[in-house]
Amino acid sequence: MRVMLVAGARPNFMKVAPILANLESRGIESILVHTGQHYDAALSDAFFRDLEIKAPDHHLEVGSGSHAVQTARVMEAFEPVLLDEAPDWVVVVGDVNSTLATALVASKLKAEVGCHVAHVEAGLRSRDWRMPEEVNRVLTDQLADLLLTPSRDARQHLEAEGIDAARIRFVGNVMIDTLLRRLPAARERATPAAHGLRAHEYAVATVHRPSNVDGAGELRTILESLGAVARSLPVVLPLHPRTAGSIERHGLGGLLEPLTITPPLGYLDMLGLLDQARVVLTDSGGIQEETTALGIPCVTLREQTERPITVTEGTNRLAPWPLSEAGVLEAFSAAMADGAERRPAPDGWDGKAAVRIVDALLDPGAGAR
Ligand code: UD1
Repeated sequence: MRVMLVAGARPNFMKVAPILANLESRGIESILVHTGQHYDAALSDAFFRDLEIKAPDHHLEVGSGSHAVQTARVMEAFEPVLLDEAPDWVVVVGDVNSTLATALVASKLKAEVGCHVAHVEAGLRSRDWRMPEEVNRVLTDQLADLLLTPSRDARQHLEAEGIDAARIRFVGNVMIDTLLRRLPAARERATPAAHGLRAHEYAVATVHRPSNVDGAGELRTILESLGAVARSLPVVLPLHPRTAGSIERHGLGGLLEPLTITPPLGYLDMLGLLDQARVVLTDSGGIQEETTALGIPCVTLREQTERPITVTEGTNRLAPWPLSEAGVLEAFSAAMADGAERRPAPDGWDGKAAVRIVDALLDPGAGAR
């Protein structure tokens, strides 16, 4: 069996790392394709280093662009690589543009290449079609032969969309494999102290969703809200390049003054910072899951979440919508008041998802197309 894995953007790297490691441990050949959707050292190279991911076998170097341009570039560059490598499986992860672009190419070349497509993190739904990731998720799930779900609730979304139950396999959350494996190394780095922060006496914030940061009004509300939080607890904000660009464009740099700003952090530094935080405020999908796994209260700065299990079984809560300073402060206070009792991790968030993923590739069952 030869398995091609695709990664393109920051949130993909922690999902491919344990799958690559498990394939290697079983002596199964892997081919890693990096689309180059993210290319900055801080968004890409740092993750390869921290997660000990092998150098990509193919780097497509597509870079940034509009959705159409980026998706098209990935498709054009991926097609000859797929034809040439002809793997048995193409495994795509998550919900970024690279995920959909490569799943689409592979599903149309299946007969010619003799491959099948597997989607890791299948079945998450926000029900908000304005989110580019929702479009990517729903379409990738329709295209994939094998749908590997991170939580039990994902199956019902897939079946409701007409996907044959035989194509769906619950494997658990592979990102948590990486978290559990890397936590000791993250703690060793003492990242909070390096930023002058004391354990459990600071908040971590991240914002990068276009709907939150591209418009001046929304971005101003969020930065002012974080400034209000900073009156009671230091707030560290690692700045995504999209957010940094928007702050500059809208002349909102002054609102960063009460916050501790850092460049985007590598995997270990970010995990080390989250692990010791009192509260986290974020619009990231992955961080909602990481805080649940770590038992750190999280306030999600979005209207809805495609990861409701982090609310029902974890430490997450949504800030009142539309976002306002008063609403964010209310959710922040509630998060601060959360008890320290740890809930058991959701089913399948146990560090063994990659084993189950590779098991599923080896034996997809009669139902997988
Ligand atoms: C992408 C994903 C999003 C994910 C996020 C994590 C899609 C639709 N979105 O959003 O789901 O949560 O990655 O970061 O795939 N840029 C750089 N350096 C880079 C990459 C991007 O400076 O290495 C800047 C460019 O100005 C670019 C902008 O960030 O135009 C946005 O990058 P892009 O990959 O289009 O989307 P993200 O907002 O990062």
